[in-house]
Amino acid sequence: MTAAVVLRESKPAPGLRRLRRWRDMGGVAALISRSFPRGVDRGGRRMLAEMSALGRAGILGWLVAPLVVPSTAYSEGFVWEEAGSIIGNASLTEVEGCPGRFVLANVAVDPDYRRRGIGRALVESSMDLARKRGATLLLLQVEPDNRPAVHLYEAQGFQTLTKRTLWAFHPLPTASAPGWALETRPRLPTEWNEHWALAQRLHPEGLVWPHPLHPSIFRGAGGLGPFGVGGTAHWVWPAEGTPRGWVTARRTGERGGWRLVLLLEPEAHGRAERPLLRRALAELERRARRVVVELPAGVADSELTGQGFVAERTLAWMARDWRAAPHP
Ligand SMILES: CC(C)(COP(=O)(O)OP(=O)(O)OC[C@H]1O[C@@H](n2cnc3c(N)ncnc32)[C@H](O)[C@@H]1OP(=O)(O)O)[C@@H](O)C(=O)NCCC(=O)NCCS
Repeated sequence: MTAAVVLRESKPAPGLRRLRRWRDMGGVAALISRSFPRGVDRGGRRMLAEMSALGRAGILGWLVAPLVVPSTAYSEGFVWEEAGSIIGNASLTEVEGCPGRFVLANVAVDPDYRRRGIGRALVESSMDLARKRGATLLLLQVEPDNRPAVHLYEAQGFQTLTKRTLWAFHPLPTASAPGWALETRPRLPTEWNEHWALAQRLHPEGLVWPHPLHPSIFRGAGGLGPFGVGGTAHWVWPAEGTPRGWVTARRTGERGGWRLVLLLEPEAHGRAERPLLRRALAELERRARRVVVELPAGVADSELTGQGFVAERTLAWMARDWRAAPHP
């Protein structure tokens, strides 16, 4: 009998317990650092550094953390503990503003404890918890060639929704983009509803990958110039006077970091990417140290490489969808 079968039969599983969000921060950060063989991305590294520092600060860190970590970020989940150390974790976040949508993240088991059913126990418990919280859709992202993880998720009924590539651009002082102003223009304040409606149509799953789709991303700048107070700006690519493509520039948490959100009507594909990207890059030239944009894998590759973007990683988004299933 395998260890996995033993765990399936014994309830509750011995080392499994609910995540204590602040107290477990240091232990979870250490586990993630040693569990991901290819390392984590820049955003992940920043998050881990913050979690480790807050974890090291003990009670002070637990008190400060709620002030600096977004209230919804990885607020729930499970850990697996062995001899007082966290050797497994799965975190759950509700997508803000999208009732019923949850994200599963940080699924990791210490290399010395793998193939014993711990990963599956963490994922199954998180799925049960998500269901109790009213989840109808549970999303996660994974490297498509991460066979153990993909196998684990597929066995739990997750299906791949999309594969998305993160592209990054590092502006140079000489990067200029003549001609962009003729084909694009700033979005008018009155156009935000239309922009928001397109975002909802293109992203029924409730995410502008990887962030929650929220009207605040698309609302107007309030007459304070294109970048407004919060540092968000929008431009459109009109065809015969009507916007058919939209780009939004938003600050990321990183110093000098910006993220673009590109939304195109189907007929604008192949025509709007280049002028919109050039517009955004030109406008960000003196503000940005790094600009990222995430798009479905294989879409607009030549337009992005043509503008100097480099593909950093492609991740699969998988979903466990309970919407069509009868109530348990
Ligand atoms: C993915 C991971 C969490 C699995 O944890 P685990 O405790 O070893 O998994 P389990 O023992 O519960 O196995 C779960 C299933 O995955 C399968 N599996 C686990 N490792 C596997 C491997 N190396 N190759 C193929 N299948 C594998 C098991 O056979 C089992 O399948 P079954 O339910 O059909 O028997 C672990 O490998 C890990 O931490 N990897 C590094 C971090 C990572 O990539 N996390 C995923 C991020 S999206």
